[in-house]
Amino acid sequence: MKEKIESLRQEIESQIQLTETGRALYELKVKFQTELKGIMAGMKNLTKEEKPLFGKVVNEFKQSMEAQFDSRAVVVKEMELKAQYEKERIDITMPGKSYKAGALHPITLVKNELIDIFSGMGFEVFEGPEIETDYYNFTALNTPKDHPARDMQDTFYLADNLLLRTQTSAGQIRVMEKQAPPIKILSPGRVFRSDDDATHSPMFHQMEGLVVDKGITLCDLQGMLQEFAQKMFTSSTKVRLRPSYFPFTEPSVEVDLSCSECGGKGCRLCKGTGWIEVLGAGMVNRHVLENCGVDPDEYTGFAFGMGVERIAMLKYGINNIKTLFENDTRFLEQFED
Ligand code: PHE
Repeated sequence: MKEKIESLRQEIESQIQLTETGRALYELKVKFQTELKGIMAGMKNLTKEEKPLFGKVVNEFKQSMEAQFDSRAVVVKEMELKAQYEKERIDITMPGKSYKAGALHPITLVKNELIDIFSGMGFEVFEGPEIETDYYNFTALNTPKDHPARDMQDTFYLADNLLLRTQTSAGQIRVMEKQAPPIKILSPGRVFRSDDDATHSPMFHQMEGLVVDKGITLCDLQGMLQEFAQKMFTSSTKVRLRPSYFPFTEPSVEVDLSCSECGGKGCRLCKGTGWIEVLGAGMVNRHVLENCGVDPDEYTGFAFGMGVERIAMLKYGINNIKTLFENDTRFLEQFED
């Protein structure tokens, strides 16, 4: 039996030194335990006197082997870690892959800038729905069914009474219905018209403004527009109001800005006039106030609506509105700020 133990010791000891992985060491340990069990099973044939003596020998053998397994485990673990690090090694001197970061679309840039300018003057943002009823888009805005002004905007109807809003002015009604004056809101959003050429797209963006309070006059509108024009374009940009017509404002005005390209002398951009038309505005028509339950003898207000694409085209010198919707990255890359 002693020989058996001795040969097992030699065999296992030499093999332990050869193991290089935790798995191999574990398998060797299982083999050792099985062999040891065999040796211990043979103990039942020993005499009473031999048994305790031999038991001690086996115990010592077992303990010394286990200590060797444990110390080899530390070494093997170290080897495994080293191999793993070697495999995962990264050459930090290699040039990295460069990924292009996205950027905001020029429409979004202009929209954000408009919101910035007007919120600085105390306007709050309200967003209305893109699908509207005939009432909010037209009737409540003093444009009943047979009104000739309906022809000013070619409308996409979804059903008899449902349409894609042609103007963010629909939001004026939604706000005034819910909120009592004083009101000072800015309403950005997409609008839709059956209209398509170099300066018109069937889908475009508008920015609506509405102020209702006691004693609001056209002068307030003009002053606010002046402030807007100088912030959006240059500090020398001038504002000009021309009489116009919208069913929901009275009086109505068309607002021109002095041409930022030529400073008002006349150039190709302003078609020689020195002025560029940028938005429609006016004093809220008393019928519209009445439709929303606001007393027109107590309150007055002004409203304005501008095309975001138009402002973007003027600001960045874009001559075809379609380039804003084609998503050609060569075009869009120019607006990364
Ligand atoms: N809704 C008008 C349009 O789309 C613009 C406008 C808004 C005019 C508010 C006056 C007041 O043409």
